[in-house]
Amino acid sequence: MATVELQGVRKSFGQLEVVHGVDLDIAEGEFAVLVGPSGCGKSTLLRMIAGLEEMTSGAIRIGGAIVNHLPPKDRDIAMVFQNYALYPHKTVQANMEFGLKLRKTPKAEIARRVADAAEILGLTELLGRHPRQLSGGQRQRVAMGRAIVRDPQVFLFDEPLSNLDAKLRVQMRTEIKALQKRLGTTSVYVTHDQVEAMTMADRIVVMRNGHIEQVGAPLDLYERPANMFVAGFIGSPAMNFIPGTVVRNGAGPVLRAADGVTLRLAPDCACEEGRQVVCGIRPEHLTICSDAEQDAVSAALRYIEPTGSQTFVFADIAGGVQLCLIAAQPRLLAAGSTIRLRAEPSAVHLFDGASGAVLH
Ligand SMILES: Nc1ncnc2c1ncn2[C@@H]1O[C@H](COP(=O)(O)OP(=O)(O)O)[C@@H](O)[C@H]1O
Ligand SMILES: [Mg+2]
Repeated sequence: MATVELQGVRKSFGQLEVVHGVDLDIAEGEFAVLVGPSGCGKSTLLRMIAGLEEMTSGAIRIGGAIVNHLPPKDRDIAMVFQNYALYPHKTVQANMEFGLKLRKTPKAEIARRVADAAEILGLTELLGRHPRQLSGGQRQRVAMGRAIVRDPQVFLFDEPLSNLDAKLRVQMRTEIKALQKRLGTTSVYVTHDQVEAMTMADRIVVMRNGHIEQVGAPLDLYERPANMFVAGFIGSPAMNFIPGTVVRNGAGPVLRAADGVTLRLAPDCACEEGRQVVCGIRPEHLTICSDAEQDAVSAALRYIEPTGSQTFVFADIAGGVQLCLIAAQPRLLAAGSTIRLRAEPSAVHLFDGASGAVLH
């Protein structure tokens, strides 16, 4: 268990800088998840922590000690990759032993650690098999086993579940999270999947284009996104956005959007008259209301998508804005009909129209 600290970490490939000065402190025993779109620099950052990629500038500390010039084998980390990186000609047992043998760990110690890890991961019966004789989920467990026998200071994971089918992915994310809590090993986990990030992380680090956009506990990011990027990236279905202008009249502040659409804002909203903003509304905060409701917007219902536990409804308001909502009584709805939608003003997020930063 150790802290991991990044200070002004930059990386260029040739002339192109892809990580632009990242500062991040990860606590002992913390499960930190780096999430962001493909190409935003997650793997590059993780590989710099591992020592597989050299930094262009900055400092990385593990357990308080600078590791900038240490090779991977001397950093006391273990990494789990998307493709598992198992040796195809070695048995499960030999795959798990390999790293320890390289480090000249005593034989009895190796046997004990491999047996313990196999027990924890349910691999005891499979120790004599080769990787080709295993399912994807079992291979992933062997890759995990190889990391945990090392008993490192830090686990680094790079999209370890991306090659598994949806059901197994859900099961494995629970297993990995439980295992990490049990072992208490500081972990940095990379994924492009925001649901994985939400369900597994103690803290999520949202990245875009080589920058950190926001760091926070999953529900804090969900409830208080710092900007439109985080607001749109975290949450599925995504937050709805309606651009417009703030108008203040006797009855309190409202958003005036395109084509006569108006939306009531919270009375304590501090935005001045005339400010260009974007309203953000989560699908669960839009409700279908009766025609008599005053503070409501008319919408043309386009599609109804049942998932079983929830039904998503997509509807167009004037100005060419499509909204998604979660319907309470989907059986009463028909595509092509007109509905009235209302958002509780206190649940509406406001972002600056130019910068996308949240407004308070
Ligand atoms: N070895 C490399 N040489 C040149 N460019 C690279 C190399 N590795 C990654 N990149 C570039 O760096 C950026 C970040 O890549 P990466 O860290 O793999 O993103 P992510 O893991 O978030 O998908 C991308 O634009 C990618 O093309
Ligand atoms: Mg990657």
